[in-house]
Amino acid sequence: MDKVINYLKDNYYEYIEELKEYIKIPSISTSAENKGDMINCANFVKNKLEAAGITGTKIYETEGHPIVYGEWLGAPGKPTVLIYGHYDVQPVDPIELWDSPPFEADIRDNKIYARGANDNKGQNFVHIKSVEAFFKTEGKLPVNVKFLIEGEEEIGSPNLEKFLATQKELLKCDAVLISDTSMYGPGIPTVSYGLRGLAFMEVYVTGPNRDLHSGSFGGAVANPINELARIISKLVDENGVIQIPGFYDDVTEMTELELENIKRLNFNDAEFAEELKVKTLHGEEGYSTLQRLWARPTLDCNGIVGGYTAEGAKTVLPSKASAKISMRLVPDQTPEKIAELFTAYINKIAPEYIKVEVKALHGGKPVVIPLESKAMKAASDAVAKAFGRETVYTREGGSIPIVVEFVNHLNAPAILMGLGLDTDDIHSPNEHFSLESFHQGMFASAYFLEEFAK
Ligand code: BES
Ligand code: MN
Repeated sequence: MDKVINYLKDNYYEYIEELKEYIKIPSISTSAENKGDMINCANFVKNKLEAAGITGTKIYETEGHPIVYGEWLGAPGKPTVLIYGHYDVQPVDPIELWDSPPFEADIRDNKIYARGANDNKGQNFVHIKSVEAFFKTEGKLPVNVKFLIEGEEEIGSPNLEKFLATQKELLKCDAVLISDTSMYGPGIPTVSYGLRGLAFMEVYVTGPNRDLHSGSFGGAVANPINELARIISKLVDENGVIQIPGFYDDVTEMTELELENIKRLNFNDAEFAEELKVKTLHGEEGYSTLQRLWARPTLDCNGIVGGYTAEGAKTVLPSKASAKISMRLVPDQTPEKIAELFTAYINKIAPEYIKVEVKALHGGKPVVIPLESKAMKAASDAVAKAFGRETVYTREGGSIPIVVEFVNHLNAPAILMGLGLDTDDIHSPNEHFSLESFHQGMFASAYFLEEFAK
């Protein structure tokens, strides 16, 4: 094992250079313009897997972006780990707020700044490199390994579930290893056992068939922005309680054990508020911050469009207004049922004098993964060894919709061995990833493969 770790140490600078090449490909899954980059990026990953020593590589085309697969099954009798990650990234705008170009990785204060540096190129590259270190030093891996690196995570993995359902034999494994979440804090080894789900909705309000003069018509015709605002204001009350009837029916509370764990984590609300520069925190009454983030559902307006928004004044009564609204879900809520309840409630509160339409975009189920498995134990030991202190267990506020499908279709525990930090600005300008985490993450990955073989 020392040989593997030393090999990773010796290649530290080289691996950063390779990560920079990976980052250079603008693999923005949501943008049609980057279709070619998605194909290039899939090929890049395939080549890196092959260079690492993974033999059975293949690119699977989908109706959307390609899936990269690779396997090495040279350890008969040993368990099989499926390593999942995503090579697609979020868009970069607002581009003017970046301090360095998003696809030209820049290193400042021992952090690598670029779109995808953390989410998820930096985090999945760690596993490719730990595998490479085993092959280069030992000539083999301690366990069987399969890689599944997709290109559609950031758009809700619309084609991956079908792939899982139809490729059960190919993907058969004893555990799914994923680094696409956060550590509890800098240098704190973390294993997460839960993710929130998501229901993403749009609400469209239409009034007159064209924009009107707000003097000639205002007061006699309903204003779509006013009406939309009134609708939005009825979704969550001032105590953070969501007003949709039936919304909380399927919510399960945290167990006593989980609540004790939260107490031990000793979360600092004041520091959290200070880091975000908000006056105080605000959320659902009766719950602590970590409960609110990990185990309570939410409803947030993500964007709102309508009327005149350019410089200066323009007296106009707009024809249309719309809002994008996301709800984070917890077990046992389902995006389908929540989308139905949301739609029914909007239709009920919508005034009859204006047209209101609701559309469900993507969604994902929440998941909580049992802590009692060999893979969990191996991951916990591996990160503790790599980071040199005791592992903490967390749930995540974010979502990775495919994780629950791994559990359902492959009947294997998913291990969330996150290496990022919540302060790494993923999805934002100046996304970054600590190079220390990048490096120690490779050790953690190597230790996991070793531990899981036992
Ligand atoms: N890596 C994130 C998930 C995540 C976010 C984990 C924050 C931990 C903390 C993932 O790539 C992501 O952004 N997921 C989306 C899913 C959505 C597009 C269906 C999310 O959570 O918004
Ligand atoms: Mn993301």
